[in-house]
Amino acid sequence: MDIHFLMPTQVRMEEDCVRRHGGELAGLGRHALIVTGAHSARANGSLTDVEAALAANGQSWTVFDRVMENPTIDCVYEGAALARSEGADFVIGIGGGSPMDASKAIAWLACEDVPRDKLFGGFYGRRLPLCCIPTTAGTGSEVTQYAVLTDDARQTKTSLAAPALFADLALLDGRYLERLPHSTMVNTVIDSLSHSMEGYLSAKADVLSDALALQAVGVIGSILPRLSADQLTGGNRARLLYASALGGMVIAQTGTTAVHAMGYPLTYFRHVPHGRANGLLLPDLLAMVAPVHPGRVEALLSALGAADVSAFREIMDVLLGRRETLTAQEAEAYTASASRAKNLANCVLPFGPEQVRALYRAAFGV
Ligand SMILES: [Fe+2]
Repeated sequence: MDIHFLMPTQVRMEEDCVRRHGGELAGLGRHALIVTGAHSARANGSLTDVEAALAANGQSWTVFDRVMENPTIDCVYEGAALARSEGADFVIGIGGGSPMDASKAIAWLACEDVPRDKLFGGFYGRRLPLCCIPTTAGTGSEVTQYAVLTDDARQTKTSLAAPALFADLALLDGRYLERLPHSTMVNTVIDSLSHSMEGYLSAKADVLSDALALQAVGVIGSILPRLSADQLTGGNRARLLYASALGGMVIAQTGTTAVHAMGYPLTYFRHVPHGRANGLLLPDLLAMVAPVHPGRVEALLSALGAADVSAFREIMDVLLGRRETLTAQEAEAYTASASRAKNLANCVLPFGPEQVRALYRAAFGV
């Protein structure tokens, strides 16, 4: 049995997690840079909880709330400059994937003078201590070593990836998801489903990542009817947050695969939300893998509670509503872009330009 598993983040998940365990922030430093988006952390109570915990610990803080959806390279350099000028000696990322991913890059760039053309050349040196607090049930970034940034030079999203980018501490509280708009909830849950399904169909999967992936898919499957009906309970949200963390732990081991590689151009060029972009492609990935690895695909569908790939496609169609359309030229351009993505090689099937093109065509009827 070959297992390779790394998850160095201390994870705490419970109701009122930040208020109960805010004392653990005391060990991270004296002055925090809180990295978040413009609104959500204030609206959902997470920022108030963190500020109360820091105050109780006698720590000071600066808020950097300029992280946009799909954070740019400029954004993380700006955050790092603020960390330095304010004398921050640790970072707290609060939000969905965008603020948490930005917080990882900022924690690094606050310590090291990394030239922009070396940003994706590999982590080196040190980073500031880091706590991540998710407020969506999608990314799992609080338990991964990835920071996805928008790279205008390459016209796509690109990942920083290094074991040093695992947060030191992750604090999870399902209550922060209460005010999420339905569409955000749907898109982020689809992202998390995609992490576990792609991870299960990764060449790097092992028995441990498989166990986490099937558990996550099962949790999501059990809640899908209530998600579709926009009738989530507090308990449902906490379970979805748990599934999202499991999905993060899965891709921390397996990487993402073709769906993420191919979703990035849809997000970059067409502004399709990340999770939605994955959802548009996911059923057809399963359809492509099924003839070669029928047992793997059946296990995923069974965990989700779908009879076959067609039933899964119907479930996703209900969640996604009307699909975007692609022109043949767009499909070709995105094929060229996605074919350069490194994570294609993680797929359990050989995945070159021909397979990428076939998957775009199948998903969008081009
Ligand atoms: Fe994702």
